[in-house]
Amino acid sequence: MKVITAVAGMRDEARRLKAEGFSIGFVPTMGYLHEGHLSLVRAARQGAAIVVVSIFVNPTQFGPAEDLSSYPKDFARDAAMLEKEDIDILFCPDRAEMYPPGYKTYIEVHDLQSKLCGRSRPGHFQGVCTVVAKFFEIVAPDIAYFGQKDAQQAIILERMARDLNLSVRIEVRPIVREPDGLAMSSRNSYLNPAERRAASILFRSLQEAKTMIAAGERQAGVVVSRITELIGREPLARIDYVEAVDPDALDPVDAIGDGTLLAVAVNFGRTRLIDNWTVRL
Ligand code: PAJ
Repeated sequence: MKVITAVAGMRDEARRLKAEGFSIGFVPTMGYLHEGHLSLVRAARQGAAIVVVSIFVNPTQFGPAEDLSSYPKDFARDAAMLEKEDIDILFCPDRAEMYPPGYKTYIEVHDLQSKLCGRSRPGHFQGVCTVVAKFFEIVAPDIAYFGQKDAQQAIILERMARDLNLSVRIEVRPIVREPDGLAMSSRNSYLNPAERRAASILFRSLQEAKTMIAAGERQAGVVVSRITELIGREPLARIDYVEAVDPDALDPVDAIGDGTLLAVAVNFGRTRLIDNWTVRL
């Protein structure tokens, strides 16, 4: 595993590998890795000759009151985990090189960026799109891997890739969960034991929705109310949103159909968690 920090070094290495005919699979991350990240790394190991993983806590996707300065990190542990997965290149650029003084260019995916998480995190998806577009240009991947955990992020990045005619193929992989159903997240480390126990309500409420839909319920309002009620019973949970939306426009639907995205965002203390389930009829 080669560790590269310089943007020019990564760019040259990617161009050299492509010229030699190797395909590049790319997994962008913000580090503090868990099995969710590793599932993407393993998919990349299967899908491409060369695997590049980036670790970069991207400042432009954090709001002023968010956790940029406290975002968890453990570079030595991350590097050891990636070495074990037999990746080829770990790319961890400096903030100052990614965003030098005078940096001015941002990418926006209109409408989609202001739905769901975009309402409480203005500017977040603009930051995500900007850094991912920069990474795509530097790493030149054939395939890039993202998690369904961040469903809106994946939908927006697919839209960006299509709209900008990017040659990268985006592959979205399933959510990896803890034994009690909580979706793995670097931010789960912020939860105290009581919050951690309470947090499984996200998955349990989505499971209940799944059961209702399997039993024939098709009214989105009924399903959303039930999820809201279940989460609402948990005293440590403060709901940001519970929505049933169509997976292209992210607009609320009246009727549940195949592909409807049920998405939730809930605060536990200072920690904001998200989860989702795509309806399969
Ligand atoms: P980060 O939160 O580190 O996540 C990196 C990738 O891992 C994302 O594609 C995310 O969806 C995926 N992932 C996280 N938890 C997962 C889980 N439990 N199961 C499956 N996949 C999971 O998302 C980001 O970083 C950043 O926004 C980034 C794309 C790197 C841009 O800065």
